[in-house]
Amino acid sequence: MLSARIAVRPLSGAGGAEISGVDVARTLDAATVSVIRAALNEHCVVFFRDQDLDVERHKAFARCFGEIFVHPLLREANADPEVVMVRREPGDVSYFGEAWHADTTMCDEPPLGTILYGIEVPPYGGDTLFANQYLAYETLSDGMKKMLSGLGAVHSHGETRSIHPVVRTNPETGRKMLFVNEFHAKEFVGMTEAESRPLLKFLFEHGNRPEFTFRFRWRKGSIAFWDNRSTKHIALGDTGPFHRLMRRIQIRGDRPA
Ligand SMILES: [Fe+2]
Repeated sequence: MLSARIAVRPLSGAGGAEISGVDVARTLDAATVSVIRAALNEHCVVFFRDQDLDVERHKAFARCFGEIFVHPLLREANADPEVVMVRREPGDVSYFGEAWHADTTMCDEPPLGTILYGIEVPPYGGDTLFANQYLAYETLSDGMKKMLSGLGAVHSHGETRSIHPVVRTNPETGRKMLFVNEFHAKEFVGMTEAESRPLLKFLFEHGNRPEFTFRFRWRKGSIAFWDNRSTKHIALGDTGPFHRLMRRIQIRGDRPA
């Protein structure tokens, strides 16, 4: 039975919604899962506060939405291949997620979503910014939309490469989104990197326009669950003297179309 207390509260005009009235560590019924899934489709990222999730409950929550995705490049590095610990120490100059990106899009079937849980969170700093790629697509001119339709882009990381459509459709809602990100998209199919660069640069910057973005301020016990298809995100590097520790579990996705 659906909890009578569940509420979905939008956080900004561009996206993001906080869901309250759900204890994520408990076994969730189908009605609750379907409210969360619908909110994810509508708001692109859902947030939960004051949750107490050990690794097994974190996995169980992820499995409500699909199978757990195993990162091909981190498989060897982690004790548990289904879990990535994201750590930041005082004085770190380089860190995980420091440029706008969507996660792991060099794979043929990039993750549908990512569930990040705050274990150790600084008193301030280390916020995550998100950008809504439905809005990015919908605000392009008709001429640009026409040019991009049918165009593919090469996404890569290390030796792993995949080709994805530049405009992707959410199969659950039929809504179209821009699907290129700074970290992985290197060139358009059939064009050189130099030829691709100016238009890719435009699309990257357009996708990050302030009016498409929203920002999440972490607390210990917070969860951000983002739709990795319809958003890009960036981790801010302003944690200064503080430690930050998060646990990440990803959900398997389909082949973008
Ligand atoms: Fe990321």
